[in-house]
Amino acid sequence: MEEDRAVDPVGRPIERRNFVRLLLGGIAVSTVAMVVTPFIGFLVPPRRTASTAGGGRLLVGTTDDIGVGRSKVVALGSKPVIVLNSPQGMKAFSAVCTHLGCIVGYTASQSPDIVSPCHNGHFSAINGTVLSGPPPLPLKPYPVAIEKNQIYVQDG
Ligand code: FES
Repeated sequence: MEEDRAVDPVGRPIERRNFVRLLLGGIAVSTVAMVVTPFIGFLVPPRRTASTAGGGRLLVGTTDDIGVGRSKVVALGSKPVIVLNSPQGMKAFSAVCTHLGCIVGYTASQSPDIVSPCHNGHFSAINGTVLSGPPPLPLKPYPVAIEKNQIYVQDG
């Protein structure tokens, strides 16, 4: 009775030594690929979504999603934007603090202002101007449109 032996792609038997070499070569190649792939992913930036890049419009959610006094940070292309439902209405501003770039937040039950948590910078929830703290510039506003109950932010 004939032994089961490994065969190459054309059906020839592979010697045990060659089979082990082939196996170790495959392991070496896959190990190098596992090490190199994350570095390539780090060096090559991801593609940006075309739907919001360059003057696009982003559907943020519904008015039920962001109740009065609450907010949501969304990605408008590559830019974080805070959409907040203040007592003065739905507003949107850059979510990047103009001091050192922390992401700002808004919860009316804690403060009537947009707050940068890093150094306690406060911005107006009405127009994004600086109210207190170290931020040197106001938050950039973005146009907001509500159609039926859907909230859209325009890249401007
Ligand atoms: S990063 Fe916002 S106050 Fe410093």
